[in-house]
Amino acid sequence: MKAPVRVAVTGAAGQIGYSLLFRIASGEMLGKDQPVILQLLDLPQAQTAVKGVMMELEDCAFPLLAGMVATDDPEVAFKDVQVALLVGARPRSKGMERKDLLTANAEIFTVQGAALNKVADRNVKVLVVGNPANTNAYIAMKSAPDLNPNNFTAMLRLDHNRALSQLAAKTGKAVADIEKLAVWGNHSPTMYADYRYATINGESVKDMINDHEWNRDVFLPTVGKRGAAIIEARGLSSAASAANAAIDHIRDWALGTNGKWVTMGIPSDGSYGIPKDVMFGFPVTCENGQYTIVQGLEIDEFSRSCINVTLNELEEERAGVAHLLG
Ligand code: NAD
Ligand code: LMR
Repeated sequence: MKAPVRVAVTGAAGQIGYSLLFRIASGEMLGKDQPVILQLLDLPQAQTAVKGVMMELEDCAFPLLAGMVATDDPEVAFKDVQVALLVGARPRSKGMERKDLLTANAEIFTVQGAALNKVADRNVKVLVVGNPANTNAYIAMKSAPDLNPNNFTAMLRLDHNRALSQLAAKTGKAVADIEKLAVWGNHSPTMYADYRYATINGESVKDMINDHEWNRDVFLPTVGKRGAAIIEARGLSSAASAANAAIDHIRDWALGTNGKWVTMGIPSDGSYGIPKDVMFGFPVTCENGQYTIVQGLEIDEFSRSCINVTLNELEEERAGVAHLLG
């Protein structure tokens, strides 16, 4: 039996937490042979609800669940964790944009970044889900100067998965056969889902669709505004699909993608002209617990203009939180 991996989940009493924890404990994230210890963080007033979720986790008798801790103290929750899913934050409601949450949520990530810096495993893999996810991940990264900045990532996988489903529906092909999709930039309506390089069984998706107006006027707005459409329909923001994307993100990062492209929000290394450190969605492949940006893609004029819009938004968000980062 492998040694258990310590996994922190914040916002454990929330709706994403409820869709996430059972799947982590059943081995869907780190593998069916990998025991886990769940370290659950939520606010003091949510501790009773966390206890209820723990009772249900117990009642599943998951063979891989090697222990659980519930706490309202980030330094307890993050002690020695190798994976940290930072979900806990306020969600937006109807009529809000994700960046409207910036000031409400930013402070959470300075505190949690500092706590990770102090007590987490030095190779911890951090995924920020709480919105605005890219800028919150940037804040956490900057608040953890002793950890490798590359350990901090933001969730663009939901946008990636949404784009895959839209492309499968448009082409009448299977989601599983679509390869080489990229989503650039911010987890916001400005993200640029780019299928110029995508293939289905080796055939070009762009050639199959061959409709620039559909791309610009239907596909990009549908993917970009999907979160708002779900809030409108459900009265609550997406939860099960968000949890699913978080599982996909960490599983692929930890266990590898076998050469397949996925999208991760990561601190830029300057690739594709994105300034260093901006937490940006890039196409990556993962191997041996490391991600690598897919290089050498040509960026045409339309793509560059889309990438500039999402980059400008991230630069503005970053300027808006600069005062929190000393
Ligand atoms: P929710 O309101 O159901 O749950 C949030 C939980 O976080 C609550 O239990 C709350 O008590 C807890 N919390 C708040 N502040 C905390 C703190 N400082 N420390 C620990 N826990 C804290 O919300 P939800 O639907 O689970 O969504 C959580 C976040 O995820 C929101 O910001 C939402 O916008 C975001 N989200 C992101 C994506 C994405 O693709 N990146 C997708 C869906 C939702
Ligand atoms: C989503 O994309 O569904 C989430 O980020 C929630 C939201 O506010 O849109």
